[in-house]
Amino acid sequence: MKVVDCGRARLYDIVGEVFAAAGRRPAMIELGVHKGDNALRLMEALRPRHSVLVDAWSAEALATYSHFDKLPPWILPLTAFERYFGGSLSDQATFDRTYETACQRFAGRGDVEIIRADTISGFAQVRDSHGDGAFDFIYVDANHQYEYVLRDLLYYQHLLSADGVMMLNDCCHSQKGMNQNLGVLEAVGNFMKRADFTPIALTSTDMSDLIIAREGSAVAKALDAAIDASDIGFVEVMPQMLPAAHIRVSPAGKTRVSFA
Ligand SMILES: C[S@@+](CC[C@H](N)C(=O)[O-])C[C@H]1O[C@@H](n2cnc3c(N)ncnc32)[C@H](O)[C@@H]1O
Repeated sequence: MKVVDCGRARLYDIVGEVFAAAGRRPAMIELGVHKGDNALRLMEALRPRHSVLVDAWSAEALATYSHFDKLPPWILPLTAFERYFGGSLSDQATFDRTYETACQRFAGRGDVEIIRADTISGFAQVRDSHGDGAFDFIYVDANHQYEYVLRDLLYYQHLLSADGVMMLNDCCHSQKGMNQNLGVLEAVGNFMKRADFTPIALTSTDMSDLIIAREGSAVAKALDAAIDASDIGFVEVMPQMLPAAHIRVSPAGKTRVSFA
């Protein structure tokens, strides 16, 4: 696994280059779309032939943020994220607005399919209409709590082709992550014990992004070789070290991944 000195957008370019070099126009899924900004960036980098965007756009979907009646002191209340979402998270109108923004952004595009559903209802719809193994790239960025991420990974792996790539957002252990009750890093650690995936690249940033692919697959080797050939700085570590990753913040405020 390479711990790379770049952000997620640079990794999108690497994934896009690897698909292009293999003559593949990928089909992609994004789980958790919000206003569609990231979907658009992914489309620019990957040039997909088809994109499926799945989001509940519902206040109810965020109700699982914490399972406890009394919010533990290390978790910020949902009101802390109102600015990002553009309104109260208990008001459905906030999500209706972001849904409208995403719809307008991709209006008239036959290559973009928007599914307003929780990821598991969405999975059933996508599997029915496209079938297993139909996708080359899946970006996992919906509910960030442990059980939900693990469930998304365990379900959606079936929609990924043998040479497909998954990418997870906010895959870190950090103060900021704890404040948001993130379970992404822990979930992917569990997933990799249950499935034949291996980590390829982890960004050395807070709220890190992680690329995973099937162990021994051609795409896993091609991604690794593409990062080797790029100008991206990296440190290589054993894949088994992934669950130990945590973010260390320097006195000057610089964030870095540490395994110590
Ligand atoms: C962090 S935002 C996604 C941001 C986007 N991927 C980006 O990078 O800009 C998370 C999104 O996941 C959606 N979401 C949360 N839980 C969900 C679930 N169980 N099923 C579907 N969508 C969900 C929320 O509505 C929200 O829009």
